[in-house]
Amino acid sequence: DWKMQDVLEEEIKVIKGLVGPDEHVICALSGGVDSTVAATLVHKAIGDRLHCVFVDNGLLRYKERERVMSTFQSDLHLPVTCIDASEQFLSKLKGVKDPEMKRKIIGREFICIFDYFAEELEEKLGKRPTFLVQGTLYPDVIESCPPPGSGMTHSHTIKSHHNVGGLPKEMKLKLIEPLKLLFKDEVRKMGNILNVPESFLKRHPFPGPGLAVRVLGDVTEGNALEILRQVDEIFIQSIKEAGLYDSIWQAFAVFLPVQSVGVQGDQRTHSHVVVLRAITSEDGMTADWYYFDHKFLIDVVSKICNNVRGVNRVCQDITSKPPATVEWE
Ligand code: XMP
Repeated sequence: DWKMQDVLEEEIKVIKGLVGPDEHVICALSGGVDSTVAATLVHKAIGDRLHCVFVDNGLLRYKERERVMSTFQSDLHLPVTCIDASEQFLSKLKGVKDPEMKRKIIGREFICIFDYFAEELEEKLGKRPTFLVQGTLYPDVIESCPPPGSGMTHSHTIKSHHNVGGLPKEMKLKLIEPLKLLFKDEVRKMGNILNVPESFLKRHPFPGPGLAVRVLGDVTEGNALEILRQVDEIFIQSIKEAGLYDSIWQAFAVFLPVQSVGVQGDQRTHSHVVVLRAITSEDGMTADWYYFDHKFLIDVVSKICNNVRGVNRVCQDITSKPPATVEWE
């Protein structure tokens, strides 16, 4: 793809010009396509002056930390430090129900961790990193802050994506956002040129605030996160086994903070309700719900109810975007 090749070379040139020869750069890897491609691109421009960190915020999916770290180590040649900050994030989220508040808290904690990572590096390198790489895409930019002349008004500001809007002044890091003008399919093309493994490029998008926007209400209540992880894993594995993963833009489960009455065995139950959502989309800005056949749905619902303790009801979200958003919060 000549156009992407040109964009890539131009970006590399810009980054080389931006980052001085003795400056260091940090990057948070989420395990997703965007941050991985962004990091690989910056790595190509400045080599080992790039330092990556993977943060376990306690809001990751089933075995995600182990899976992602092992892929970074065995497939990609990016040096990555793993920081387990799950207790820190979850303690700050305790009792918080408001979706925007959750996103703000998570954004703030991420910045704290990056700051800490930068300090650790400063001790090691004898100099402080001066830049932070982020995998922000064009749709994130226009949804959070419509550019002048885009025809979008302020009422189009839909959700405060935590990775848009810059950093607080006291954090002495400048931003590098090499994918800021690209759509998702273009990022995948760029990843291809950069030899990022196909399995990585095909991963469904996962939001920065993680499962916090998929457990409605207080994420720390009961074992909501654990239940959601199990349901999500069954749903995704079933999709992969049915060969549907690549036809779907994004699929996931949502945990509702309500209980419903059911009957399992001879017992009346009063347990949790989960929702399955699968969509097709071009760029995440609009989306259609994905149509599964009956057999698939019957199998997945019975797997969930038979294997996940505490769930007695499974719903499917058949709302497009608009009027709904992709995530429930
Ligand atoms: P919404 O829910 O806004 O989602 O329709 C559109 C796409 O963006 C992802 N998403 C996020 N990604 N930080 C991210 O990095 C966020 O705060 C965030 N919120 C939503 C969502 O998963 C979907 O792909």
